[in-house]
Amino acid sequence: MISRTKRSAIPRIVFPRDFLWGSATAATQVDGGDDASDWFNYCKKPGRIKDNSSCISACDHWNHYEEDFRIMQKMKLNAYRLGADWSRFQKTPGKFDTKALDHFRGMLDSLRRKKIRPLLTLNHFTLPQWWAARGGWTRESNLEDFYKYIDFIVEGTGDLVDEYITINEPNVYCLLSYMMGIWPPGESGFGGYLDGMRAQRNMVIAHCHTYDRIREIHARKKFKSPRISIAQHIRIMDPLNSGSLLDVDRANAADFRFNRLFTDAVHEGKLIRPLGNGETIHDGNAWDFFGINYYSRNMISFNLFTPHLLFIKESTNEDGPVNQLGWEIYPEGLTRAVMSAYDRYRLPVRITENGIATSDDLHRSAYIEDHLRALHRAMELGVPVEGYYHWSFMDNFEWAEGYTAPFGLVDVNFNNQKRKPRDSMLLYSRIAKTGTL
Ligand code: GAL
Repeated sequence: MISRTKRSAIPRIVFPRDFLWGSATAATQVDGGDDASDWFNYCKKPGRIKDNSSCISACDHWNHYEEDFRIMQKMKLNAYRLGADWSRFQKTPGKFDTKALDHFRGMLDSLRRKKIRPLLTLNHFTLPQWWAARGGWTRESNLEDFYKYIDFIVEGTGDLVDEYITINEPNVYCLLSYMMGIWPPGESGFGGYLDGMRAQRNMVIAHCHTYDRIREIHARKKFKSPRISIAQHIRIMDPLNSGSLLDVDRANAADFRFNRLFTDAVHEGKLIRPLGNGETIHDGNAWDFFGINYYSRNMISFNLFTPHLLFIKESTNEDGPVNQLGWEIYPEGLTRAVMSAYDRYRLPVRITENGIATSDDLHRSAYIEDHLRALHRAMELGVPVEGYYHWSFMDNFEWAEGYTAPFGLVDVNFNNQKRKPRDSMLLYSRIAKTGTL
């Protein structure tokens, strides 16, 4: 990180006037009160979540949204990436909850009235328990259920929202849920590897079909023409030892498998290998912009003892600064990620997540400045970047880390749900207000 004194010597940079200054959350991580999700079940068994907590309370955003949106408005943020959890709207098969839909419409309407543009994530890891019990994403025949949920939510809210993320981070989901066994359904080993590949294949199919379905609903209902993408977690994969052919080879494999497999398939509209044999699943590409979630870099080496992870071993650059979860803080990686995504796909980019887990808010401020500079560098080099959504608006339930990893621009006291914007939020607000840094 650059020291405070050196910072003042850095020239000012200016972002476009119509730039989207946002923050992001996910339904399970903030909403609270959903007892029909697979994550709610998963939290019940002691030892799975670091602090043995549950997502059932989270930030009670579902009931505090008005207060939260008022903070965003006051802080001059003009965009918000929020999520809808399917389990909230369909607790049991066959029955959709129209009361929950009305409530959710109230949330979207409140954002609109405050001139905060919503970007709606339709699936952010969490599944209804009943669908998970049927095998979730691992079975192609299950996808019809997902499409019914899409119809319900898009028909019910498409007059209030026109920008969508269909699925958040299929790569992270498959890795942590099926290969590393630390998220539901907790699979690992060779069986988990195969299920993870099946899940990823079906998620590509689901994304492409959902892309068309959303467009069809918006056209039929005369809603505004939508813009649709996925949010892909991109991690820079560098070889641990750049002189080792094996490390370089595994770094390339990790880059392809983790960073590009899903998006290449979406871009080509094909089940590319190893997701399939090149079968066409969509007429042309199935996205309108690229949503990038960027946090960090992994150092990759060859490892004989991880055959189920394709002999890949990840570690962290020991010389670099790290966040509270041990992830390297590597702003330059954001320039690299954005540049290579644009070189490959030639689509406008949005940073749909970027942030730091830290209890020292000064580090968050520095992280924001350094990453916005890195993003601007990519823009100067010609990449059309539409916006930046900081992860996260507020401290929240950080999956298997429970409430131990504060990512928020807003501090949340989980005993009484009191919110307090941090200094980093004030800094971010100044940047959003002036469009300069
Ligand atoms: C992303 C994920 C978010 C959040 C964030 C910070 O991978 O989409 O839900 O958990 O990481 O760890």
